[in-house]
Amino acid sequence: MNILPELKDRFRSALADLVSDPDHLASMVRPAQDPRFGDYQANCAMPLGKQLGKPPREIAGDIVSRLDVADMCEAPEIAGPGFINLRLKPDWLNQQVNAASRDQRLGVTAASTPRKYVVDFSSPNVAKPMHVGHIRSTVIGDALCHILRFLGHQVTSDNHLGDWGTQFGMIIYGYKHFVDRGEYEVSPVAELGRLYKLVNQLVEYHAGIKQLPVLNEQLEAHLSAAQLHADATSVKPADKAAKKARRRLNEKVTSTRLAIESIEEKTAVVDNDPTFAAWAAEHPNIGAATQHETALLHSGDATNRQLWEEFLPACRKAIERIYDRIDVTFDFELGESFYQDRLADVVVDLESRGLAKESEGATCIFLDAFDTPMIIRKKDGAFLYATTDLATIQYRVEEWQVDEILYVVDHRQSEHFSKLFAVVELWGISEVELRHISFGTVLGKDGKPFKTRSGATVGLEGLLDEAVQRARTIVADNDDAKKNGPELSEQERDRIAGVIGHAAIKYADLSHNRTSDYEFDEEKMVAMQGNTATYMQYSYARINGIFRRGNVDVAALHRRNVAIRLDDAHERALALALLKFSDALAETIEDYRPNVLTGYLYELTKVFSGFFEHCPVLKADNEISRDSRLLLCDLTGRTIRKGLGLLGIDVVERM
Ligand code: ARG
Repeated sequence: MNILPELKDRFRSALADLVSDPDHLASMVRPAQDPRFGDYQANCAMPLGKQLGKPPREIAGDIVSRLDVADMCEAPEIAGPGFINLRLKPDWLNQQVNAASRDQRLGVTAASTPRKYVVDFSSPNVAKPMHVGHIRSTVIGDALCHILRFLGHQVTSDNHLGDWGTQFGMIIYGYKHFVDRGEYEVSPVAELGRLYKLVNQLVEYHAGIKQLPVLNEQLEAHLSAAQLHADATSVKPADKAAKKARRRLNEKVTSTRLAIESIEEKTAVVDNDPTFAAWAAEHPNIGAATQHETALLHSGDATNRQLWEEFLPACRKAIERIYDRIDVTFDFELGESFYQDRLADVVVDLESRGLAKESEGATCIFLDAFDTPMIIRKKDGAFLYATTDLATIQYRVEEWQVDEILYVVDHRQSEHFSKLFAVVELWGISEVELRHISFGTVLGKDGKPFKTRSGATVGLEGLLDEAVQRARTIVADNDDAKKNGPELSEQERDRIAGVIGHAAIKYADLSHNRTSDYEFDEEKMVAMQGNTATYMQYSYARINGIFRRGNVDVAALHRRNVAIRLDDAHERALALALLKFSDALAETIEDYRPNVLTGYLYELTKVFSGFFEHCPVLKADNEISRDSRLLLCDLTGRTIRKGLGLLGIDVVERM
């Protein structure tokens, strides 16, 4: 039973007598902040009182007299200005927690109206090494798939790989000019990675050299503007507007300086290396040349097509290795290349409907709400990222009859998706709901996007290795400190460290509000204390330890139909926390925020700790109480395991 929706339903019926549109008011039921006032609280009497011009306490009385919750709750209490406080009845709570204990689904009811979802996530551009930024889309998307499925929805996960973009122009160019055949034979993935990095570096070098004088000129201009401003404002005391203007000018100076520094750093790397410098000199037009290779590929050039077909499996293998490690799978991996044959038709269709027009040689869709149009075909005939996304939506609607598509993509693509959704609406595809599940940036300790000291973005595999290594130390320390000596073999320690290390990275990501940036701190992530996977896994292992120490056969307890009893306040609190699992999942899905679920699990383990401190389990006073508490432990363990599982995180039986 999902308690909160049930209470909301009951309020809706009661409110329907008083107002024509009770939905919003009924939604104002919440878990109580302070258990002294009850378990749940409704605040709807205040706004309704205002609306009807009556004292809210009187309205609260009207609502309560119509509210039918006698089976679930004690008599509702009206408090303060008109809060309605509800306390669940012991019998009811008892019955619910026993039902959950016997239920495979832990008391979580499946959606009454299942929807068909496509979750578009991970979607890296292949041929470029995956970096820490890709972790967010991958773990958030994977968690959403698990949760939606568990709630009874139909989910198709699709990895919309960038397998047709400009990075292929780079490796094709690299292959034609710089390949080390021997290396390529032995390890194509590593060699292609090297070629990508090399060509990208040379392209950036020449672009940087071109840009430097422009930036230096801009810096001069900003500096003299700042000077002029300083001279002018030093005459009269600086007012607010002047301060603001000065700050803005200073910001411009700083950001331009930073841009210059970053370019100088990159060009220095090339200049200071004779081999690099020679290559840079031999390939002055490498930027345009790589673009030309991409264009050749797109227009069906036989050589480039064949190279692409040869490279793609190798590139995908590199990505696959990471998915294997973190245990993420997809129903489909229809990359951008899959849609190439449909792009021309999309453009023709949009033109024939009068939505797309020619503008300076390009084909564009102008949108009222945006300053710039969406370009769907460039002057040179090339299609764009947006064109592919339009074709993809058409395909998903036609082939999969999807109700809703979730795009788990970086917040920097917000404008792209806003435009895309606006175009889809104009296009008349109205049967599908589209949502951009955007997320913030992963930051380093310096507050800037996470990078290593040398300035290159960190490879994902290295980070995973590091987390596992740290976890290994924690597991060993914890095991060594055990009262009766270590329990784990070296192999067990390795296996557990693998589970914990990978979990730490996933959980840290999921436990942050997805729309915020967060600081990547491996030490904190694997820590045993705080809202971390390690702490959650430790809590789970501790519960298992109870069964192990007591030699308890949980299945036998269930077979004997032993009942959970809620005699102690801590038992009651734990039961209520366990029953809120459903509500937590529903709330997680409301705005697709996995941190709601991690927050719930963290809260649950805290309540469990309170229970465990106050209510002896194996040493309970009598067998009835002991069995009941064992079942509460069991349900807690299963809820943690399920909750973590829905986040894509494994547990270990001991650590
Ligand atoms: N490959 C893109 C990138 O790395 C992300 C693709 C997201 N999905 C989509 N349907 N546009 O930026």
